[in-house]
Amino acid sequence: MSTRPSNAARSHQAVRLLDVQPTDRVVELGCGPGVAVAALAARATQGLVVGVDHSAVMIGQARRRNHAAVRADRVRLLRTPVEQLSLDEGVFDAALAINTVGMWPDPPVRLRHVARLLRPGGRIALIGQPRRPGADAADSESVGRTLADLLSEVGIEHVRTEMLALDPPAAWVLGRTPRDLAEGD
Ligand SMILES: C[S@@+](CC[C@H](N)C(=O)[O-])C[C@H]1O[C@@H](n2cnc3c(N)ncnc32)[C@H](O)[C@@H]1O
Repeated sequence: MSTRPSNAARSHQAVRLLDVQPTDRVVELGCGPGVAVAALAARATQGLVVGVDHSAVMIGQARRRNHAAVRADRVRLLRTPVEQLSLDEGVFDAALAINTVGMWPDPPVRLRHVARLLRPGGRIALIGQPRRPGADAADSESVGRTLADLLSEVGIEHVRTEMLALDPPAAWVLGRTPRDLAEGD
């Protein structure tokens, strides 16, 4: 998966737009082979990046790709499904999920849980790039609307969408957690 140049470009552009600061603590859901984890760790040099994926194969690849940062405890990689996510890492500044939300059971429930891991005003970015052969910009716009609606549905504020210049375009949707995110699923 990671060897596809389009996937790597998508990850790098998604991370660049997230505007990660050196001390940021970031969690990536469905991190796959760890390409975005590496890009996040290159920016959060004094922070922490936690990558989560339910696939042992993906976590193994992510671990190999990020071995130095893992050894330095700047990157932690957890094999767990998002539906069983339980992190002891404290509060995060940002969360990222690239081409994975559509694979989760009950995404609104999962996203509410993710939002509660973030500090008030924390950033949450969802990226979606249609993968079906022949997909075009209209499909990407549709994916973007779906992701933006999902964030709004779970109480994320200031939601905005940008289109990444890929073929087909990838929708990059960012929002911020409110000060008083409601408890409960
Ligand atoms: C299409 S891949 C994208 C990987 C990576 N984000 C990227 O853009 O290269 C989707 C990833 O989400 C993971 N995934 C799917 N459902 C999941 C779940 N319920 N919990 C955790 N990870 C999941 C898969 O194992 C896979 O690594």
